[in-house]
Amino acid sequence: SIEDKVDALLAKMTLEEKIGQMNQYNGFWDVTGPVPKDGDQAKKYDHLRKGYVGSMLNVRGVKDVKAVQKIAVEETRLGIPLIIGFDVIHGYETLTPIPLAESASWDLEAIKNSAEMAAKESSAAGINWTFAPMVDISRDARWGRVMEGAGEDTYLGSKIAVARVNGFQGEDLSAHHSIAACAKHFAAYGFAESGRDYNTADVGTSTLNNIILPPFKAAKEANVRTFMNSFNELNGIPATGDKYLQRDILKGQWGFDGFVVSDWGSITEMIAHGHAKDGKHAAEIAANAGSDMDMESYLYVEELAGLVKEGKVDEKLIDDAARRILRVKFELGLFDDPYKYLDEAREKEVIGSQEIHDAALDMAKKSIVLLKNENNLLPLKKEGQKIALIGALAADKTSPLGSWRIAAKDNTAVSVLEGLNQYTGNTVTYTKGADVSIGKEEFAFEIKVNTTDKSGFSKAIQTAKQADVVVMVLGEHGFMSGEGRSRTDLGLPGVQQELLEAVYKVNKNIVLVLNNGRPLTITWADKNIPAIVEAWQLGTQSGHAIAQVLYGDYNPSGKLPMTFPRNVGQVPIYYNYKNTGRPVLPGEDVVFWSHFQDEKNDPLYVFGHGLSYTSFDYSNLKVDNTFSNNNTVTVSVDLTNSGKVKGKEVVQLYIRDLYASVTRPVKELKGFELVELEPGETKKIQLTLTKDELGFFNNQGEFIVEDGDFEVYIGGSSKTTLQDKFTL
Ligand code: IFM
Repeated sequence: SIEDKVDALLAKMTLEEKIGQMNQYNGFWDVTGPVPKDGDQAKKYDHLRKGYVGSMLNVRGVKDVKAVQKIAVEETRLGIPLIIGFDVIHGYETLTPIPLAESASWDLEAIKNSAEMAAKESSAAGINWTFAPMVDISRDARWGRVMEGAGEDTYLGSKIAVARVNGFQGEDLSAHHSIAACAKHFAAYGFAESGRDYNTADVGTSTLNNIILPPFKAAKEANVRTFMNSFNELNGIPATGDKYLQRDILKGQWGFDGFVVSDWGSITEMIAHGHAKDGKHAAEIAANAGSDMDMESYLYVEELAGLVKEGKVDEKLIDDAARRILRVKFELGLFDDPYKYLDEAREKEVIGSQEIHDAALDMAKKSIVLLKNENNLLPLKKEGQKIALIGALAADKTSPLGSWRIAAKDNTAVSVLEGLNQYTGNTVTYTKGADVSIGKEEFAFEIKVNTTDKSGFSKAIQTAKQADVVVMVLGEHGFMSGEGRSRTDLGLPGVQQELLEAVYKVNKNIVLVLNNGRPLTITWADKNIPAIVEAWQLGTQSGHAIAQVLYGDYNPSGKLPMTFPRNVGQVPIYYNYKNTGRPVLPGEDVVFWSHFQDEKNDPLYVFGHGLSYTSFDYSNLKVDNTFSNNNTVTVSVDLTNSGKVKGKEVVQLYIRDLYASVTRPVKELKGFELVELEPGETKKIQLTLTKDELGFFNNQGEFIVEDGDFEVYIGGSSKTTLQDKFTL
């Protein structure tokens, strides 16, 4: 068995070799070029040859991966293969929509398939392991990394976590087209104060157990093989050094038998956090806390052997960490054939193949959310229309790739301009209007947003005047969200808002296509612009997907996975809030209730919102609360497509536990189903609630189910009022 093989190998290993397995290096050097002679690279190379490196990240492509794998396998004493990691966040070279966008599809099969394709493409480039899915729940659109997660909801986030883990890892982890997944960032990274990346998280037991941890638990249950801890401190302890999270919860209570990798340099960062005295102390804390692999802190390889000899880290813990890492390497089949991922013919055939592009297009269409569509402005007529296409993002072939696209080449996305030009019945006149540019590099230090140049306005206004309909593609450049890309202003960046208003003055027939990596405060647009399409950053096939939706060749069915605020001052804002002791009071003059003086409590677009080119009616809600059925509550409703075209609807089921020993949110998503109906068709939809889904973690961290009264809501968004109740 794998366990026997791991034991046999461990028995042969020196302490230094075991620690070597716990060491991960970044590979940004020319691994196929001359051997580095000095500096860090020379040290890394030397460590590699001695067997003191267990993993590398950012080495990619068959040629390069083969070069490092060959050293590990052929030059080290025991020939233990490396595990090659990479951020395959939404595709590899062919990009799918950013994960937040994919989550808007609520289509678990499609999401799983998208991850499967990403695994197929990246594994063909020699990658064994992705640092995905990011399963951090976040309620704060200021945080740049919301683009990388599944949004604000624990239930939806857990389902998506499972779909993505299953997609990456496949049925058989040892197949050459599947890769190990990584649930990150453990934990509470999405709760950074004020949405400022890497900032402190301070959350109570209830939020930790009920909101933050469940998607991680779901990933573990789906057998995710690795976890990544996080940069942030949680309640005073940096997550990387948090024994409670890693040893007590993850490896203890949950019985996780894969390994935990640190985030980049996060072991060293415990010094800056004010938790470790120096590097040696940081290594001691991290290893004792259960952080198995050191990503780029260089501390395990430098300090751990000494710490073991001094008795500060028990060698058993080193054995445990090495065992976990070796176990995953065996499961990946790396010991059977370390070169199994390294086939140049396969690399050529798979990367950028039609199958992968088709899947990217399919996912992109499913990710689009129709936010508003007055007077049926959409879909566009296919003939005889003069279309003015305005906005720098309309012709941009890089921005749609979004953040986290290390292996994708610039200018490889299909732009909206190119997508619309596939339809030849109309004339499309493009003009930029205003810039949204951030310079070239993803890792550019300075992000420049052109905030002042309005020289393109007059041409945009002229073009709009002559058009039947104006399509404006506005929003954030792809690199304005992602790691380190927090914002305090959630409006349209630069002069885009002014451009929108200027064009509106001359032509009100505007379709606003948003490109963005997070919810934006488009309050003015919602009030004035008749049609708004949320198109996120949709990846390589972006322009085709948008054009097909604008022309009605694909009927949008996406629903928001995150609340859109009216005003940044409302953030954090989310649908499953608590009622407070002073919810809305009747009477306009009442001051003393939980509200703002200058803004509504309600968001601009609620969680779960999304329209279609058809309409759906819900009727006949029935709740069977007899519990005769294996402790389940059965909820059924009739869904009718009352419009003129075929369409898909995400039927959403929410509950409210009216009173409990620990207060419960006003609504909690507990089920959903994606249903496709022909015009005029009615279907009975049946969803079940298990008793466990009615429970929660109390403040002692115990999971309990309390008797009491529950309301059940069903509908097409979290705003639904179609309601019934039952008693448990
Ligand atoms: O995987 C990422 C992580 O999410 C953020 N820091 C760097 C890691 C490796 O690139």
